[in-house]
Amino acid sequence: MAQDQLIDRGRRDFFRMAASGTALLALAATPLAALAQTTSGAPLKIGTIGAGRIGSTLGTLWAKAGHPVMFSSRHPEELKGLVDGIGPLARAGTPAEAVAFADIVLLAVPYRAMPQIGHDFAHDLAAKALVLDATNPMARRDGEVAVQAREKGAGVAAAELLPGAHLVRAFNAIGSARLPEDGKRPQGERIGMPMAGDDAKALALASNLVREIGLEPVVVGPLTMGKYLLPGTPLAGEHTPEQIREILATLK
Ligand SMILES: NC(=O)c1ccc[n+]([C@@H]2O[C@H](COP(=O)([O-])OP(=O)(O)OC[C@H]3O[C@@H](n4cnc5c(N)ncnc54)[C@H](OP(=O)(O)O)[C@@H]3O)[C@@H](O)[C@H]2O)c1
Repeated sequence: MAQDQLIDRGRRDFFRMAASGTALLALAATPLAALAQTTSGAPLKIGTIGAGRIGSTLGTLWAKAGHPVMFSSRHPEELKGLVDGIGPLARAGTPAEAVAFADIVLLAVPYRAMPQIGHDFAHDLAAKALVLDATNPMARRDGEVAVQAREKGAGVAAAELLPGAHLVRAFNAIGSARLPEDGKRPQGERIGMPMAGDDAKALALASNLVREIGLEPVVVGPLTMGKYLLPGTPLAGEHTPEQIREILATLK
């Protein structure tokens, strides 16, 4: 079967499941500990691989929401100003230290770093309840690895690089500088955050993290739909949840 047909079938199955309530039942069947975290908002240890524009912004927002966050860089000493400015919930480390520390990992690196991250950490990342993938394959910036990832679809490509990881694609196509202000909108006027993933528990955890920084999660489908969560696609930028659903209906 052609890949496009497989993708379409995956998406149809996902929405059929959601419509029939199976997806909600799947959420209800998630392990108790993780479900307690999603519903109680208990602190989760978050590790960021990459602490540049998007990694530092999201990590700061989650630390402000009460989660311990380890920001990582290959030069963690350069993150001192960032973590000192956030306070006791923030610390800095290497990517390996952040992976070891975290319950949940945010990927926030240029896409060309992804094969190395897969090589170094795929085994450990597969054990995490959630790996949030904010990365984007950009051919001009990242070269051939990005070209191939675009051909496969960004979600499918990340799943190949990180086999077994509970991946959710989110925060890919919203400017990091906008996020702190976007998150201040009152309930009912919130910006939607399109997300794609295959794992119900990971999607539930990601949804909670999205809500905690003042945005409204909108699950657009399985990881195959990650190909639409990129800068320059119709879902990029800031939209209300209703607008996201309208755009979604126009996508193949
Ligand atoms: N900027 C945005 O508004 C935005 C929004 C949504 C999504 N994104 C996506 O998020 C990703 C990061 O973008 P950014 O703008 O935050 O980039 P950035 O400001 O350049 O930061 C990149 C971070 O990745 C780290 N890094 C680079 N290579 C690495 C490697 N091999 N191993 C471990 N860490 C590595 C860098 O740390 P060291 O070099 O110190 O190790 C740095 O902390 C990109 O894929 C981008 O498309 C960006």
